[in-house]
Amino acid sequence: MSLPSPWRTDFPALAALEAEGQTYLDSAATSQKPQAVLDALLGYYVSGAANVHRAQHLPGERATRAFEATRSKVAQWLNAASPAQILFTRGTTEAINLLAYGLETQFHPGEQIVVSALEHHANLLPWQQLAQRRGLELLILPLSADGSIDLDQAAQLIGPRCRLLAVSQLSNVLGRWQPLPELLALAKARGALTLVDGAQGAVHGRHDVPALGCDFYVFSSHKLYGPDGVGVLYGRDEALQRLQHWQFGGEMVQVADYHGATFRPAPLGFEAGTPAIAAVIGLGAALDYLASLDPAAIAGHEAALHAKLLAGLAARDGIRLLGEPQVALASFSVEGVHSADLAHLLSEQGIAVRAGHHCAMPLLKSLGLSGAIRVSLGLYNDSSDLERFFSALDQALELLR
Ligand code: ALA
Repeated sequence: MSLPSPWRTDFPALAALEAEGQTYLDSAATSQKPQAVLDALLGYYVSGAANVHRAQHLPGERATRAFEATRSKVAQWLNAASPAQILFTRGTTEAINLLAYGLETQFHPGEQIVVSALEHHANLLPWQQLAQRRGLELLILPLSADGSIDLDQAAQLIGPRCRLLAVSQLSNVLGRWQPLPELLALAKARGALTLVDGAQGAVHGRHDVPALGCDFYVFSSHKLYGPDGVGVLYGRDEALQRLQHWQFGGEMVQVADYHGATFRPAPLGFEAGTPAIAAVIGLGAALDYLASLDPAAIAGHEAALHAKLLAGLAARDGIRLLGEPQVALASFSVEGVHSADLAHLLSEQGIAVRAGHHCAMPLLKSLGLSGAIRVSLGLYNDSSDLERFFSALDQALELLR
């Protein structure tokens, strides 16, 4: 059955890639951008670039208005109580590093940070480093066979010394929603802070973040059909107030003299230096674009493509699907075949998938693998992309076996 994407033509890159013989199946790494986002980026530059929050001239006021409009759109998108709860960062990784520095003085030797076995390095290494700096213990929540965090074991491990629970909403390898309400409740019962890494989850549906009940939620624009170079850190007011400042420089200051300074509260106090102005404006356009679409239609299209992807993989011998993915991605390994060799042969046939450890080396290792192939779909993919993928996969496997 043919599954055309009604949104494909909104993304000029899809036609450009197709003309080059490329099939893009790596949207969980980064997404293509709709024309509306490209127009917003260009519009900012052609109408006159200007710095934000610093100038009283017209271009500066225009840039500041557009920049702050995105903050309000993000707040609305997440259902945050106020735009002041939205901090712009370079991406998810920087947002988590900000937290690992900003929260440093909240932790005391012997206390615990709890993460899970499926975390991306971005939600593991900053906590490892913090644990080393502060003499903390880093606990790892084990997984069930389906790729979700095991709640029984989590209940055992999240104890009175837990000061922070930091978990992914959706694994970038296993593609499974994590049981956040239960996990967050366990951490809150211990009085711990909670962080949800929404890098992968944010693009799959719209999330009411305050209703989730976490203290912090982070995501990147570039996976949400927006530009790269900008990410979002949402924080509850009380949680943001616990952060110490971490980067120092322009526009985050209240008063400065040669030997001391006082700093602004969130959000501007955590946005030192000139931000990624065009990218932030582009993120606003991406959210406007997504808000104009029917979420049920997107979910239906992606689910139909995903079913086709899973059925195609299941129909081939020797393929091991990792976990039980619930969104439009699938990671797999092939018996007797190195993922790098397979990725190379797929790439030679114009198939763009991600291969390797997916920045989740400990997870891959726990699955007994050094690498895997991941196919991930965006709303612009269609069944012809999957047909090209499977035909390339069959040819590659014939050569490799
Ligand atoms: N975190 C991104 C991925 O999973 C880059 O591919």
